[in-house]
Amino acid sequence: MKEIAEDKKAGPVEGAEGSSAAGKKGAGNGARKGSVVRVISVTSGKGGVGKTCCVVNLAISLAREGKRVLVFDADLGLCNLDVMLGLSPKYNINHVLRGEKQIEDVIVKGPEGIMVIPAASGISELTNLNAEQRLALTSSMEMLDKDVDIMIIDTGAGISNNVMFFNTAAQEIIVVVTPEPTSLTDAYALMKVLMKKHGEKSFKLLVNTARGEKE
Ligand SMILES: Nc1ncnc2c1ncn2[C@@H]1O[C@H](COP(=O)(O)OP(=O)(O)OP(=O)(O)O)[C@@H](O)[C@H]1O
Ligand SMILES: [Mg+2]
Repeated sequence: MKEIAEDKKAGPVEGAEGSSAAGKKGAGNGARKGSVVRVISVTSGKGGVGKTCCVVNLAISLAREGKRVLVFDADLGLCNLDVMLGLSPKYNINHVLRGEKQIEDVIVKGPEGIMVIPAASGISELTNLNAEQRLALTSSMEMLDKDVDIMIIDTGAGISNNVMFFNTAAQEIIVVVTPEPTSLTDAYALMKVLMKKHGEKSFKLLVNTARGEKE
């Protein structure tokens, strides 16, 4: 993606706790660092903690504020964003990676006009993108820069290479946790790897399904 200087225009994202100016500088090697599009990843250590729900709600809230929002289902081998949105896309990111479609051909419109890039389901070779696929993906995304204000990436859970890649590609990382101990320890492990191996220093923690302030 474009290695443009730090994004001065971006403001805080309403709904994302503790937001700070985007376009963060960091040691991360993400391809979208410094992009004019504000890129936010929503991630977690443990699966099933509510990432996709948060992505959908955040996207709809931002779209209602007039932002042009693109949501990318980066749980590449096991999509569920389109299912949650009640969409039945004909094409998905796999068609782009195979060179059969352009990125704009696979985008579907969701509620409030949000744009969605669907993932493929049951395609195991996408669970660990190689360097060539990553390059193809970032080049494709770059083509969308003029049509998008905010991109939200719904990553898979865990510490796989794909999860690392998409988180380091984002300017802001939202880590979703629940009050469950395993969710917290897995989130800690994820942040530790992102920090130690990829130089990510800033995370926003989003606590989902808490029953009270104490939790
Ligand atoms: N705040 C909430 N209140 C009630 N149910 C919730 C809440 N957040 C998420 N859920 C439910 O929990 C389940 C898991 O949510 P979701 O699919 O968003 O998690 P995920 O982290 O994206 O999972 P995965 O790691 O498999 O991608 C869904 O059935 C969802 O409807
Ligand atoms: Mg999900």
